[in-house]
Amino acid sequence: MEIVIVRDAAEAGRVAALKIASVVERKPEAVLGLATGSSPTGIYASLAARVQAGELDFSRASSFALDEYVGIPLEHPESYASVIRRDVVEPLGMDQARVRVPDGRADDIEAAAVEYDEAIAAAGGIDIQILGIGANGHIGFNEPTSSFASRTRIKTLAPQTRADNARFFDDPSQVPTHCMTQGLGTILDAHEVVLVAVGSSKASAVAGMVEGPLSAMCPGSALQLHQHATIVVDEEAAALLTLADYYRYTYANKPAWQRFEH
Ligand code: F6R
Repeated sequence: MEIVIVRDAAEAGRVAALKIASVVERKPEAVLGLATGSSPTGIYASLAARVQAGELDFSRASSFALDEYVGIPLEHPESYASVIRRDVVEPLGMDQARVRVPDGRADDIEAAAVEYDEAIAAAGGIDIQILGIGANGHIGFNEPTSSFASRTRIKTLAPQTRADNARFFDDPSQVPTHCMTQGLGTILDAHEVVLVAVGSSKASAVAGMVEGPLSAMCPGSALQLHQHATIVVDEEAAALLTLADYYRYTYANKPAWQRFEH
């Protein structure tokens, strides 16, 4: 794991975006894994600015969303299909035909979940997976006690997650109770992952993910098993990391050839 501590959310988005940009510059037909929620908004804004400036081109990239609610219509403004179209596909100039979101409305949810993982594999796997982390340690919607071997499947959202996401809905009762999410095993198959966490509400989850024991109680800790995981956190989210000074020192002393931050 590489831990990058930055001063604020805007800087976290800018630094994480450099990682994604480097993948797409190297491989224009890259396969991206897309998270929703507040954490990656700085990434998408930073990438969109570079697309606008003509520095980056996502028109040949493909993408797979991390998760989708079960129980709301596709056209609902908070379905992740809608969010991804509005916040990612359009501003980044991606081809909507090459964007997949788990089908939370499928008649056969289990078959749709299996097919989703098969589609990722058929695309050659995800080159870079963008992630956030929930205050309870979830990544994707793999809530505490999710198996490290899990694949895309239906999950019940934890009450805390429903409460956290109520800000996107008119009324907390409208937050769906279920979702379809890539599993921890699916996420670990991505060639590279970049996770952004900002704010004090994420400090405990970040400490569990980075320094805690491998535990299904903190699903993010599964990333300790990943060979290429970059964790970008602001000072508040880093507040409970016991080795914060070591991470700062390591990042400041990276050899030039290893740096992705220009
Ligand atoms: C979103 C997702 C979730 C969020 C997490 C943090 O697609 O899978 O794991 O990344 O709930 O949400 P925010 O970023 O809104 O704090």
